[in-house]
Amino acid sequence: VGDNIALTPPMGWCSWNCFGSDVTAKDIRQAVDAMVGSGLINYGWSYINIDDCWMNRPGPDDPVFKINDQIAEKYEAKEDLRRRLSRIRFDEQELVGRVRDEQGRILSNKDFPDMKALTGYIHGFGLKAGIYTSPGHVTCQNYIGAYGHEEQDARQFATWGFDFLKYDWCGYSLIAPDQSLKSLQQPYIVMHDALSGIDRDILFSICQYGRGDVWKWGASVGGNMWRTTSDVRDTWSSISEIGFGMAGKEKYAGPGHWNDPDQLVVGYVGWSKNLRPTYLSPNEQYLQVSLWSLLSAPLIISADLTRLDKFTLNLLTNREVIRVNQDVLGRQAHRVIEAGTVQVWAKPLADGSVAVGIFNLGEMPVDYQLDLKALGLEDPCTVRDLWRQKDVANRANTYSCSLNRHAVKLLKLTPLQRL
Ligand code: GLA
Repeated sequence: VGDNIALTPPMGWCSWNCFGSDVTAKDIRQAVDAMVGSGLINYGWSYINIDDCWMNRPGPDDPVFKINDQIAEKYEAKEDLRRRLSRIRFDEQELVGRVRDEQGRILSNKDFPDMKALTGYIHGFGLKAGIYTSPGHVTCQNYIGAYGHEEQDARQFATWGFDFLKYDWCGYSLIAPDQSLKSLQQPYIVMHDALSGIDRDILFSICQYGRGDVWKWGASVGGNMWRTTSDVRDTWSSISEIGFGMAGKEKYAGPGHWNDPDQLVVGYVGWSKNLRPTYLSPNEQYLQVSLWSLLSAPLIISADLTRLDKFTLNLLTNREVIRVNQDVLGRQAHRVIEAGTVQVWAKPLADGSVAVGIFNLGEMPVDYQLDLKALGLEDPCTVRDLWRQKDVANRANTYSCSLNRHAVKLLKLTPLQRL
């Protein structure tokens, strides 16, 4: 792992919020075809990430659970462990199978018959391939995890040709029930060491939902990005709590290491093959993409790429909006103003201009006037509306707008001296 990974926030697609555990190699290939066919590939979208459930589930007699007994003795948490393990359901037999070969190498399940061919297909279009696992004995969906095999798994991911690893937390609380800072960091240190030991650049994505204020130390354990909260859902309360909750975390993000507020819940989503349009309204979708761009967040689409409608495609192919996210300065926006239901966030850009989001978090429409001096802009500015890709004011010192419920104006303010 070098210092040349993720210099701007990663952009791509992930299987989880779309297909959930109901995912196959065929779905991944179709996502690749759609990424290319829709033209998304031309806008910087480049990662195709396989999430949980590509491996097998260990059965109840698998040695993996015998190791758990030893660990339980060590932590004197045997009863707790038994209680938790008893919750693991073994009734879904179909993917219960051999989890590793004789040498201990991890095996993909029957729905992913040939990982190397799959990454080859992804790379064939110039895209990058992502994979997922957990540091515990099992993943969040009780598939086999990396515990005790971290180096071997890192090597296998490299051999298969993966470029991105999302490393979850699930299963690890059985190993480290104390949740001390040391225990929270340990699995990521171990996996980062393993990744450092192999001859392939693999982006390291930490996913432990913000425990122990991960943003304060994610970079120090080698993370290129780290989830700041639990999973995003396609509701207003979820995207607004996660997105606006990023206030104050801006100092921890920068080139190579980003706060990750989770995926863009736009288009068809569903966490299974019963996909449906996102519950977010069109304005809320504009708001999520705008806020995530300002936050220098990884932009990971969770929609079914084979069913992109015109609206969703437009949302994801606005070059001026994407440029805000991908700005080389890599500064995460901070909240500058809170006034009633309105919040104003600003992100300094490399060319000396400032990207600004004016958000209405309220349920009623509002009129708002922004004083550009409040953003530290003394000179009059050109104001460009980035969604409309139009200059809307010249030599302005103020900017007025009307915002519907949950709506956003995404602007680029360029002081005259910079023009
Ligand atoms: C956790 C993560 C999700 C997803 C699932 C998979 O919940 O936060 O993003 O990876 O696990 O089981």
